[in-house]
Amino acid sequence: MADQHQNGDTHLSKRTKLSYITDEEIEAEFSHHDPEVARLNNGAFGCCPASVLAAQRQWQLKNLRQPDHFYFNDLKSNLLRSRSIIKELVNAEHVDEISLVDNASTATAIVLQQASWAFHDGTFGKGDAVLVLHHAYGAVKKALEAYVARAGGAIIEVPLPFPLTSENDVVREFRKAVEIGKSESQGGDEENGTANRTRNRIRLAVIDHVTSMPSVVIPVKELVSICREEGVDQVFVDAAHAIGCTRVDMQEIGADFYTSNLHKWFFCPPSVAFLYARRSSKSRDLHHPVVSHEYGNGIAVESSWAGNRDYSAQLVVPAAVDFVNRFEGGIEGIRKRNHDVVVEMGNMLVEAWGTHLGCPPHMSASMVMVGLPPSLGISSDSDALKLRTRLRDHFGVEVPIFFRGPADDHRSVTAYARISRQVYNKVADYYKFRDAVNQLLQDGFTSTAS
Ligand SMILES: Cc1ncc(COP(=O)(O)O)c(C=O)c1O
Repeated sequence: MADQHQNGDTHLSKRTKLSYITDEEIEAEFSHHDPEVARLNNGAFGCCPASVLAAQRQWQLKNLRQPDHFYFNDLKSNLLRSRSIIKELVNAEHVDEISLVDNASTATAIVLQQASWAFHDGTFGKGDAVLVLHHAYGAVKKALEAYVARAGGAIIEVPLPFPLTSENDVVREFRKAVEIGKSESQGGDEENGTANRTRNRIRLAVIDHVTSMPSVVIPVKELVSICREEGVDQVFVDAAHAIGCTRVDMQEIGADFYTSNLHKWFFCPPSVAFLYARRSSKSRDLHHPVVSHEYGNGIAVESSWAGNRDYSAQLVVPAAVDFVNRFEGGIEGIRKRNHDVVVEMGNMLVEAWGTHLGCPPHMSASMVMVGLPPSLGISSDSDALKLRTRLRDHFGVEVPIFFRGPADDHRSVTAYARISRQVYNKVADYYKFRDAVNQLLQDGFTSTAS
């Protein structure tokens, strides 16, 4: 009987390993998605399969069933379990380097609040600079305004060309901006002879790993090493899109701080992100913006209790891992297939419209920028939004549109669609988008006229 049982188990584990999730099972996992919509915008809000939502519900019920028991016996140990999984996935050195927070915006606030205090207490001087990419996420730029500019820091934006032809375009512009940041500035009054020259310092560089709009994979490892060579004090990588979308390795990248959402490309529910903080004196100054009982116990522990609230999104990381392991190659297999398919679909669209991709495929992850036909007449951000709304309301296609800038000539591309690919997408979704645009062109639609 024992043998039989053992054989049964062996058979089961073999079968589990060999049989990957089927198309029908994928459909069932995402049956809560609106079937009328070709959802080409995973990049914005991500997705969460039914099995992970069910696991989340179990955590919520466990809490509500006996909150005191949950608080004293379950919460911290299971948050630690989630953090340990992330630590392994991203190749951090120690689990204490990984905190779980609500989202990339919270992680950004934690890092920039620390920079703000450094300006206030004189560790950073007035006029010292923070470097950020021009294509950084809008909310991150607002956070720089709130935490850095108000504290007396200067903000230097690194201009990036788009479309891009190679990583060198990014590296060259970044180097130039670092030089400008370091260049001498003049203070005091030249007329009455009190002019003084000070050498500026770049205290912090905020670098995207995968920019949002336009979406481009940034050569982050190279940019971090430029920062190290040039004596930039701190490097924070905003990698809101990265985990599950591109390669993420903390020791290889070498940043001080790094954040990625888990609800975008890692199948967690809204909302959860990890914040990596390399163990150093810098990380000791990090604090959660919501102060509670754990204040002063390190950012990872502070983040594990930011007051009474629902922690279930942070507790389902093991369930998300179970989900991705049903696919061949796990999360790595998923991201590679997503990349291959989205590039293939991007090429299909640019061929249909006689346009081009916004950057070479190796600078894209699971999102690709697809040039839209110039005759759509997109000549402002509001035109781009109009087209997006039209595609949603009239054609059941959800896709964000990026306005690049005014036309160089009447045949040049002024706007790009950012198409995403996730496991639930079907090839038909992309053909639906192609046909919708073709229909608009046939109807003589132009964004400006409508
Ligand atoms: C590059 C980038 N940074 C930060 C964020 C903010 O993420 P969240 O809204 O989850 O905080 C986003 C969201 O899309 C993003 O794309």
